[in-house]
Amino acid sequence: MKKIAVFTSGGDSPGMNACIRAVVRTAIYHQVEVYGIKFGYQGMVDGDIHLLNSQSVANIIQRGGTILKTSRSKEFMTPEGRKKAAKNLKKHGIEGLICIGGNGSYTGALKFFEEHGIPSIGAPGTIDNDLYGTDYTIGFDTAVNTALDAIDRVRDTADSHNRTFFIEVMGRDAGFIALQVALGGGAEAVFVPEVSNQKDWIEKLFSKKQRKKSFSIIIVAEGDEEGGALVLVQKVKEKYPEIDPRVTILGHIQRGGAPSSYDRVHATRIGSAAVEALLQGVSNMACGIVDGKITFTPFQEAIHKRKDISQELLRLLEIVNV
Ligand code: F6P
Repeated sequence: MKKIAVFTSGGDSPGMNACIRAVVRTAIYHQVEVYGIKFGYQGMVDGDIHLLNSQSVANIIQRGGTILKTSRSKEFMTPEGRKKAAKNLKKHGIEGLICIGGNGSYTGALKFFEEHGIPSIGAPGTIDNDLYGTDYTIGFDTAVNTALDAIDRVRDTADSHNRTFFIEVMGRDAGFIALQVALGGGAEAVFVPEVSNQKDWIEKLFSKKQRKKSFSIIIVAEGDEEGGALVLVQKVKEKYPEIDPRVTILGHIQRGGAPSSYDRVHATRIGSAAVEALLQGVSNMACGIVDGKITFTPFQEAIHKRKDISQELLRLLEIVNV
């Protein structure tokens, strides 16, 4: 392989730039030409493809977002869109891809290989940490620390007023951010998509008989079955009018900011390992980190298997809230 390309796809995450940098520099180290595709799959369809050099990725390791930009391309989801994309890659002689993104991005890469024979290696770029086959995804650590910083601030005002706050964090389909910040932020409870029938918790937390705390922080993943923090709070107000809770939705704040040292180092390890694997002929695998070591999981598995939330951590949250 003499020419490869890298792109970011789906929601951006802090550390994507560190990964891009590692991809570019590792390719150059191995005397391989490396292109950057702008706006993910959409840039592939539009031919927004640019040759990169070592300088192109200078001074980006500390920056959040993605210098390559990103999108969720509808056109690439069609066979015609993928045909255009393949034509554009072939025009530049690109033989392999590094796809930095989440589940949807891996699905696109696999489909593209099946139809056009261009192999990819995936790098797990999402704050959600919801990808099977890796303990870690790029951006999770930073997002969790950003959320914790905000939660600490909310605690001050919650304490001052003896108030209950429902804080909603990101996680459309998964509660990894929610559980991590619930434990790290000293929350009383967590509502996550992976656990159903959590309504009982409302009774447990707010019935006068059982109420032990003067103020509470309750974390809600945006994808929780109840429909997020605003809906939950409405239910609490209806049942317990004497409680006057507040809602804070952290939203996209969690996606920005300078990556943590953990995200910079792990994104660099993954980016470099992904390129070396691609050059050795590995294809259609998702690169990840398990027990501190680099791993590769077939896209088929990474896409279709669900990563389990830690029962141990859920139990721990209950124990420390005794
Ligand atoms: O997948 C990452 C993520 O941040 C989710 O946690 C969130 O639900 C979603 O992206 C938001 O997407 P968008 O930026 O398109 O609103």
